[in-house]
Amino acid sequence: MTKRVAILISGGGSNMVSLVDSMTGDHPARPCLVLANSAGAGGLAKAEARGIPTAVVDHRPYKGDRQAFEAELARVIDATEPDILCLAGFMRVLTEGFVSRYRGRMLNIHPSLLPKYRGLHTHARALEAGDPDHGCTVHEVTPELDEGPILGQARVPVLAGDTPDTLAARVLVEEHKLYPTVLRRFAAGDRTPVFLP
Ligand code: GAR
Repeated sequence: MTKRVAILISGGGSNMVSLVDSMTGDHPARPCLVLANSAGAGGLAKAEARGIPTAVVDHRPYKGDRQAFEAELARVIDATEPDILCLAGFMRVLTEGFVSRYRGRMLNIHPSLLPKYRGLHTHARALEAGDPDHGCTVHEVTPELDEGPILGQARVPVLAGDTPDTLAARVLVEEHKLYPTVLRRFAAGDRTPVFLP
């Protein structure tokens, strides 16, 4: 049976686009919702242009009440009856209660080779450490930030003269290959990790 996928974004949504555009033909899943935590998220228009239902649950009115924000988030998500949730540049930390609700069916993409560099500023941190390579990871979401079983990784070289921006751009190209690859496998029931290239 075709799986329904809800995608959560905060920004431009380039990973969301790569996921949506991959779900065609014999793909075992289809997008059912693109949700942003800000009406200003650039990805919303890209989802609308692709005919995907969109929603906004702005976190700002819930300042200080994360549980109320997440209750509304869950209400809007659950109304679309997704089988899988994909965090794609969704920049809100989620509580254990929310994560537990979707445990085993929520994925995230993170711009580092986890377990290295959980959290923010991953590209700058890889450069500061003098790492010879860097990359991105898709993992199942568990309550601890940027932890959970690794479902796939893609690696890029760090080049002389790289800045956080040039390195981020090189990693993003790989994110757009890795996340659709993992989602397709995951939707078909395959959780064995994949390593690109
Ligand atoms: C991506 O690089 C993603 O890996 C990162 O945000 C960017 C979103 O770009 N996610 C995180 O840092 C999560 N901690 P996009 O909106 O163009 O997909």
